[in-house]
Amino acid sequence: MKIIVIGKGGVGKTTIAACLARLIGRSGYSVIAVDADPSLNLARALGLDPMVANSKPVLFDEEFIKERTLLPSGAYRLNPRVDDVVEMYGVKAPDNVTLLKLGYVKKGGTRCLCPEYAFLRALLSHLILGRRDVVIVDMVAGLEPMSRGVARGVDLLMCITEPTVKSIDVTREIYRLSRDLGVKNFVVVGNKVFSDEDRVFIEKSLIGIEVLGHIPYDESVVKADRLGISILDYNSNSPMIVELNKIKELILKNYFYP
Ligand SMILES: Nc1ncnc2c1ncn2[C@@H]1O[C@H](COP(=O)(O)OP(=O)(O)OP(=O)(O)O)[C@@H](O)[C@H]1O
Ligand SMILES: [Mg+2]
Repeated sequence: MKIIVIGKGGVGKTTIAACLARLIGRSGYSVIAVDADPSLNLARALGLDPMVANSKPVLFDEEFIKERTLLPSGAYRLNPRVDDVVEMYGVKAPDNVTLLKLGYVKKGGTRCLCPEYAFLRALLSHLILGRRDVVIVDMVAGLEPMSRGVARGVDLLMCITEPTVKSIDVTREIYRLSRDLGVKNFVVVGNKVFSDEDRVFIEKSLIGIEVLGHIPYDESVVKADRLGISILDYNSNSPMIVELNKIKELILKNYFYP
């Protein structure tokens, strides 16, 4: 099962991807949480110290990049080998989760993101998963990943949406691109929802798209963020976690392999 968490900047992708990964892990699945955002925030959201010694992002390893992604001509390979990547670079996180930080190819100046996206596409299409293995990707904000084709072949694209026109616009565009890519399942999760009015606004703005749930605006999330710890370790009964548990159940029931 492969899930991508996507959406406009700042809507809550990292917080939600991390909590969902741990909640699914608690349900007895083996979860690989992929940090595909160069800002590398997922470790902390999972409850790890981001400075842990053995947590080098895959793409920071120049030798590895040379070996796997560079062709002798200097061009980038479209289909790098990824079968051993989790074993080599994965970091153990709580609740049966392994964190895989992608990072970025460190080179100065302007350049394209081809090797990063080629690597992520390979990871999502070639990583061999058992029936109780789950990959959850915390994606970089906005539309870029969609134009790079990373969502092709994933089982579930989860778009986090705030009750704002700007966030809704991005969600609609991601949905449109997902149709072009042939994504099987597209769902929306409302986040930072203050009221019924917000809930109705999201649902009415996205008619025809499944909304899996609405996560309330939650002061505990803000406090946990200030302390630099996971909301699950700060207050596991907070409104966000209560709603995420329901969303997790819906995902397991409706989208997991039979
Ligand atoms: N339900 C919520 N209630 C209150 N604050 C929230 C909630 N969800 C997320 N936040 C806060 O919103 C901010 C952005 O969250 P997060 O980093 O998870 O978003 P993101 O979509 O991953 O951002 P980016 O696009 O920068 O990667 C954080 O300060 C987080 O604590
Ligand atoms: Mg993020």
